[in-house]
Amino acid sequence: MLSKTIPIKLEVWEKLKKKAKTLKKTSIVSLFDKDKNRAKEFSIQFEDIFFDFSKNLIDKDTLNHLLELCKECKLQNAKKQMFSGEAINETEQRSVLHTALRNTSHIPIKVDGKNIMDDVNQALDYIKNFSKLFHEGKVKGYTNKPLKSIINIGIGGSDLGPYMVTECLKPYQKAGIKIFFVSNIDGSHLTETLKLVNPEETLFIIASKTFTTQETMTNAASAKKWLLSYCKDESYIKNHFIAVSTNQTKVVEFGISPSNMFTFWDWVGGRYSLWSSIGISIVLSIGFDNFIELLKGAHAMDNHFLHTEDAQNMPTILAVLGIWYNNFFDAETSAVLCYEQNMHRFAQYLQQLDMESNGKNVNRKGKKISYQTGQIIWGEPGTNGQHAFYQHIHQGTKLIPCDFIAFAQAHHDLEEHHEILLSNFFAQSQALMIGKAKKEVHQELALQNKNMEYVLKVHPYKVFDGNKPSNSFLIKKLTPYNLGALIALYEHKIFVQGIIWNIYSFDQWGVELGKELANKILPYLKNDDSVNSQDPSTNILINTYKKMKKK
Ligand code: F6P
Repeated sequence: MLSKTIPIKLEVWEKLKKKAKTLKKTSIVSLFDKDKNRAKEFSIQFEDIFFDFSKNLIDKDTLNHLLELCKECKLQNAKKQMFSGEAINETEQRSVLHTALRNTSHIPIKVDGKNIMDDVNQALDYIKNFSKLFHEGKVKGYTNKPLKSIINIGIGGSDLGPYMVTECLKPYQKAGIKIFFVSNIDGSHLTETLKLVNPEETLFIIASKTFTTQETMTNAASAKKWLLSYCKDESYIKNHFIAVSTNQTKVVEFGISPSNMFTFWDWVGGRYSLWSSIGISIVLSIGFDNFIELLKGAHAMDNHFLHTEDAQNMPTILAVLGIWYNNFFDAETSAVLCYEQNMHRFAQYLQQLDMESNGKNVNRKGKKISYQTGQIIWGEPGTNGQHAFYQHIHQGTKLIPCDFIAFAQAHHDLEEHHEILLSNFFAQSQALMIGKAKKEVHQELALQNKNMEYVLKVHPYKVFDGNKPSNSFLIKKLTPYNLGALIALYEHKIFVQGIIWNIYSFDQWGVELGKELANKILPYLKNDDSVNSQDPSTNILINTYKKMKKK
């Protein structure tokens, strides 16, 4: 069982509160003045990833206190419990073993006395064989043409991870393959996607851990109907549909044979499943060898996380910095800003990973929590975000700690573009930290020959307070290996935070109520009768909808 330490009752929590009071009156720039080695001391290199956390409102004492907090919350023990397959997802009575899926060093891991690595490797072999046939053009449709377009139908963890990875790794995409992701129950998502493919050449991957998710099953049924409208014969479904699931009964019920099914296990959480058979869309897009590279990168980060002391441990440091701002500076959100267009789904992927894991208000003792837990994660790639919401980060009233991510080497040869991109990456964290003082604004306006009346009127708007914290990740290249390591880094950051906040990070009961109520409401939408069984607001909304939908 995980420790049930209540963090705010620890002495070190009080020490941190005091530290925060002092540091709120300090500037990051002055911390650099005091410590000439700060940039070196507050940064970590792990393989191709350089993590600079020196632009934070933090000093050595604070960092030590934060690491003491980790110790008091039994982080080291918790890590061992997770990696060894203890059922740390206590409310669902499950192990949490996404790390086993990328255990490329094949160290035996036992669940209920059985070494699960045999199953993991067997599932990988199955994917390998299928992808080989697919890439050789031997997986053929109802007119005997090789399948070239892939539509992954899934939602949440069965969509966000694979979609994000295939986008990030577009430069590695196999020639001649088109890949699409359909998640939303909104019929436009499927309809518009189907317009882009030829039924004779399309493979549908129905990805759902449970194979009961309403959106996925409805989209899958409509896709099946669409295909049948062309091929006219149920027996061709096996040529065009494969399933990824833990639920064979439901897969067979849907009409997909077990030989077209790729499996995984209940110890893989949905949002942690891209490393499992759920990643088959990734394999078909970038090839099996690149998928293995992705796993290897994640495995390297797992080993770093498991074996490196806290003070040099990238996920741990990233996690405690998040705790620092969330719990001691009242920062409600955290922005993830990737200076890489292909990472345009990364923040959305992290939203599920982080917010479905740590958006919890009950602790591991079953009691309501009186302190802040999960951060709100958001972001867009740079430089697009700079022309949208950075104004708020620089001059708004809220504290928004940022993670900047960039890559030294690009995948294209437009060198000038990359230099401009990187100059913005370097400049933004600098601008957030140093700001622009009143004096500087005055001098600037004077140089532009502005009159004094104008200068006095305008200068307050042009001042930047600065002192806004950020982390920077500079990574050599966006390769499958480095992406695997980066994703695992964020997974472990979330794990550490969950341990400290004394919550269960691997369940998601909060998504159930909405689903339940939607199922209750759905029958009322199937006729024109006026509804009065719901709350007054919902009644009026449903009844207005019924009026509006009449053509
Ligand atoms: O949104 C809730 C959730 O259960 C997620 O945790 C999960 O990733 C998603 O639904 C999809 O579930 P499934 O893979 O079972 O269709």
